[in-house]
Amino acid sequence: MKIIIEPFKIKSVEPLRFTRRPQRDKILKAAGYNLFNIHADDVLIDLLTDSGTAAMSARQWGGMIEGDESYAGSRSFHQLEENVKELTGFQHIIPTHQGRAAEKILFNIVGGEGQIIPNNTHFDTTRANIEVSGAEAIDLLPPEGADPRTTGNFKGNIDLKALEDLIRRHGRERIPLTMLTVTNNSNAGQPVSMENIRKTAEVSHRSGIPFFIDACRFAENAYFIKLREPGYQKTPVRDIAKEMFSYADGCTMSGKKDGLVNMGGFLALNDDDLAQQARNILVVTEGFPTYGGLAGHDLQAFALGLDEVLEEDYLKYRIRSVTYLGEHLTDLGVPIFQPPGGHAIYIDAGAFLPHIPAHEFPGQALACELYLGGGIRSCEIGSVMFGKTDSANGTFEPARLEMVRLAIPRRVYTKSHIDYVIECIGDVYQRRDEIRGMRIVHEPPVLRHFTAVFAPL
Ligand code: F0G
Repeated sequence: MKIIIEPFKIKSVEPLRFTRRPQRDKILKAAGYNLFNIHADDVLIDLLTDSGTAAMSARQWGGMIEGDESYAGSRSFHQLEENVKELTGFQHIIPTHQGRAAEKILFNIVGGEGQIIPNNTHFDTTRANIEVSGAEAIDLLPPEGADPRTTGNFKGNIDLKALEDLIRRHGRERIPLTMLTVTNNSNAGQPVSMENIRKTAEVSHRSGIPFFIDACRFAENAYFIKLREPGYQKTPVRDIAKEMFSYADGCTMSGKKDGLVNMGGFLALNDDDLAQQARNILVVTEGFPTYGGLAGHDLQAFALGLDEVLEEDYLKYRIRSVTYLGEHLTDLGVPIFQPPGGHAIYIDAGAFLPHIPAHEFPGQALACELYLGGGIRSCEIGSVMFGKTDSANGTFEPARLEMVRLAIPRRVYTKSHIDYVIECIGDVYQRRDEIRGMRIVHEPPVLRHFTAVFAPL
């Protein structure tokens, strides 16, 4: 059979609430044209993020009841620890409430004034935790990876030459670790090849620098390696994932992505001394080392999710369904970051709305239009999020790209939901010439995309 179906049947459902266009006009206006301000009940299809939005399996819900809520030595923690050790091979598994908590602990220890942390592309929270520590976060993405129009199998790869240069200039005194984010969320969810992972490790280790993986979407990355990298077609995806981790000295993980849970994360590593320091911080900020900010039932569901995410039928459906959305939008002429990524499709709003200049926020205008048109919530990743406006001097610095992310929650929406999204975006594309830009009425001093108030021009 050619058709790939959802590899699950539905046991428990949650109703969607339909709204009409005049209602959505009012809702959006009241929200200051900021989709973060909309009540989730007023959203029909929510593609704001793939983080913490997965549907858990009957097995995971059953596991929640069995979760052991003991303060110390919880059986559920030991189950998670065993699964993570088996998968990653790391010696120390330190649970945290989510990914950024693991980042905070890690960079609290190895960051600090004068330190430099390179990555293919840092995710925002990773960058923020590095910068808050006083260190510098550096992205080393090659130009061909960053170009939305080129095709390529592994556009998430780090620029190895640039990494070698950076290490030559600064050495291990200033580079406490190197990092790779798999898949590369901030570069449209593009995967990183096994070769790039192995060589990043080699280049780092040659200079005595430890190498860490930001493993949030490790399973999706492993599946891309199986599909695209010569030599891996017959390798079980679990073995591919194990090989990825085998080159690293540690990882940070948000279980809210490829852990298939609504909350959870961990820091895993081999260095005994570093692990001891991390646990010391953990007890102060997250909790005792066998629960780290999580309930026993969270730990149990996480342990099971890490198993389920590596099922090949699941990954085949997962990657195929995101690609399906990307292919259909491309067929309609909608410009997207090519090729489709693992967890999301990124619409190139700058190319979609060429008549709207960056300082009038084409991504924000498009995201609002998708909500008005069909109740779809997406996320602007462009000059609202990364641009800088200095109203005192009247200057504006745009983001590198004007994107709108359609992130697909795991196991939540069916093919008909995705067909609806395709039809809605196709409609908006037909009337793109009528869409106007936005201006900012009010913005907070930091992270303005969360709370800024806009008005249509
Ligand atoms: N690293 C990557 C690559 C991420 O995508 C995220 C979260 C984190 C770390 C932080 O994990 O949320 O558990 O603290 N990304 C979400 C997103 C928020 O929408 O892309 P967290």
